[in-house]
Amino acid sequence: MSVSSSSSSPLTNLKIGIVGFGNFGQFLAKTMIKQGHTLSATSRTDYSELCLNLGVSFFREVEAFLEAENDVILICTSILSFSEFLKSMPLHCLKRPTLFADVLSVKEHPREVLQQVLPEESDILCTHPMFGPESGENGWKDLPFMYDRVRIRNEVTCSNFLQIFKREGCIMLEMSCEEHDKIAASSQFITHTIGRILSEMEIKSTSINTKGFETLIQLKDSTMKDSFDLYSGLFVRNKFSKRELENLELAFKKIKQKLQDRMNEVEDLDTI
Ligand SMILES: NC(=O)c1ccc[n+]([C@@H]2O[C@H](COP(=O)([O-])OP(=O)(O)OC[C@H]3O[C@@H](n4cnc5c(N)ncnc54)[C@H](OP(=O)(O)O)[C@@H]3O)[C@@H](O)[C@H]2O)c1
Repeated sequence: MSVSSSSSSPLTNLKIGIVGFGNFGQFLAKTMIKQGHTLSATSRTDYSELCLNLGVSFFREVEAFLEAENDVILICTSILSFSEFLKSMPLHCLKRPTLFADVLSVKEHPREVLQQVLPEESDILCTHPMFGPESGENGWKDLPFMYDRVRIRNEVTCSNFLQIFKREGCIMLEMSCEEHDKIAASSQFITHTIGRILSEMEIKSTSINTKGFETLIQLKDSTMKDSFDLYSGLFVRNKFSKRELENLELAFKKIKQKLQDRMNEVEDLDTI
């Protein structure tokens, strides 16, 4: 893994086509537009009106989107729809070698599918911005941005694309997709799981909140803003998540047993 800090080299305008213009695609697009890049988008849903207001060209037809000669095609679909959607794309419509980047919150799965499906002349950059519309609401400074240069020949386009995140002050972390998935399963997936459990328990603010409990409420609220598609994707498409879920279950059972043991000790003392 290598880390590099922010840099302020001059901005090069890129033609970026976003596939999947939902919550996260729109969030990224706003900063890219602010930086002066030229954006287009395609999505399952018709976002023509929203795109018109943002200054993004919206393509209902994927063919026309691919023919538009983008420098970068940035895939922002859900984790679970990624493979099917990518395989359904008429990639023969591409007019020239293009950099494909993705932002999925799991990394080995998109890397494998991109390598399998894309034409040999397309470059591949797998990325995971470790923030979202909430944590990145007031800028991306000091927020981590993970990337793996899976297949890069056009160094200039790749570097200009990474520059988008560097310029915003992200902490740039180059690591393998496998390393990412291992770490993310024991951190991000566990965070989301605890948030979902707290939501199932319907925890609510009280008149005597401790700071710790307020943190839990915040965690529940922020996790529940992400779709169930996103959360379940962290499990289904990350081979390390299953073991982490088992660890969590085991840890819960251990804690429960410790409490039961203490309860038994106290009850024994009470009967003396
Ligand atoms: N939200 C975050 O904070 C965050 C942070 C980092 C990375 N990411 C990653 O960014 C991606 C998008 O996340 P998200 O928050 O926008 O929510 P999401 O629920 O994970 O994905 C929504 C996107 O997926 C598309 N989609 C869903 N099912 C589809 C299908 N069957 N066929 C075609 N498209 C489909 C949606 O298209 P339509 O809108 O057209 O229906 C929308 O663009 C995910 O891969 C996620 O892991 C998200």
